[in-house]
Amino acid sequence: MKEKICMVTGANKGMGKAAALEFAKQGATVIMVCRNPQLGKVAQDEIKRLSGSKTVELFIADLSSQQSVRKFVEQFQSKHSKLHVLFNNAGGLFTENHILSVDNIEMNLGVNYFSTFLLTNLLLDRLIASGSGRIIHTSSMMMAKSLNWDAFTGKQTLSPMKMYGLSKLAIVLYTYKLARKLAGTGVTVNALHPGFVHTDNATNSFPKMLRPLMTIFKPFVLTPEQGSQTALYLASSPEVEGITGKYFVKKKEKSSVPISYDEALQERVWTYSAELTGSE
Ligand SMILES: NC(=O)c1ccc[n+]([C@@H]2O[C@H](COP(=O)([O-])OP(=O)(O)OC[C@H]3O[C@@H](n4cnc5c(N)ncnc54)[C@H](OP(=O)(O)O)[C@@H]3O)[C@@H](O)[C@H]2O)c1
Repeated sequence: MKEKICMVTGANKGMGKAAALEFAKQGATVIMVCRNPQLGKVAQDEIKRLSGSKTVELFIADLSSQQSVRKFVEQFQSKHSKLHVLFNNAGGLFTENHILSVDNIEMNLGVNYFSTFLLTNLLLDRLIASGSGRIIHTSSMMMAKSLNWDAFTGKQTLSPMKMYGLSKLAIVLYTYKLARKLAGTGVTVNALHPGFVHTDNATNSFPKMLRPLMTIFKPFVLTPEQGSQTALYLASSPEVEGITGKYFVKKKEKSSVPISYDEALQERVWTYSAELTGSE
């Protein structure tokens, strides 16, 4: 990965940090995108120390704010003319009922989907400039089996888990549409489910009283290092060169839910997202 610039969102812990460390060990220039400057700095120092790399850069962006995403992209673009890998990892299950972001978007949808849509679209010119950019989107096997349009567009409230599922379906619909849009540019885009991974996000998905169970289950779930393997594979393996618009689990191409292949729905979701975020 020498000479490559690899961006990881949510790089201060969990799978994002594991992937950022591995990119650094492989000699890439790593762009860590973190929400919290202090936590980001601690992780950056650790990744530099463990990898011996001097090219680990920290940028701050809060994905619950479109303004913050735009500001970060401007800072990145003023420094770098190319981007080879974009690993959209940041996100999670936001368990409080119908919390809205500063952009007035339900938090699960705002962070997990709409900000990823905006960030990726704003970075397309840099990915295309690299000649062979690879975009990796983090979905989940918890993706919804249907798209509730009223909930997606903020007219209806569902449970946090259902909103999470909706956000993870939307990211797959976006992946498939984006792959078509990027045909001929050399840039690929794929989505993945990382497995069940022992992270704060996974622990917090349980009700408070059941969270200690995660410690008992720990030997049976993946470590963040193991959970990041499919993303690392999609980011660098020659086996997936040119492969685009697919969904992966355990480094293998899998089918996502049937509705995700509905091209009319992909277009509708794209049009709405482009309007909401002001990005094409
Ligand atoms: N763990 C699993 O079993 C599992 C399964 C399927 C999918 N996933 C997906 O995997 C991805 C990574 O999660 P993880 O399990 O590695 O969890 P994690 O260790 O809790 O990491 C989540 C990362 O996302 C960042 N993040 C959250 N909200 C953000 C915001 N508003 N702006 C910027 N960054 C934000 C967090 O930053 P802070 O530290 O500042 O909060 C953290 O760096 C998520 O998209 C999740 O949905 C996980």
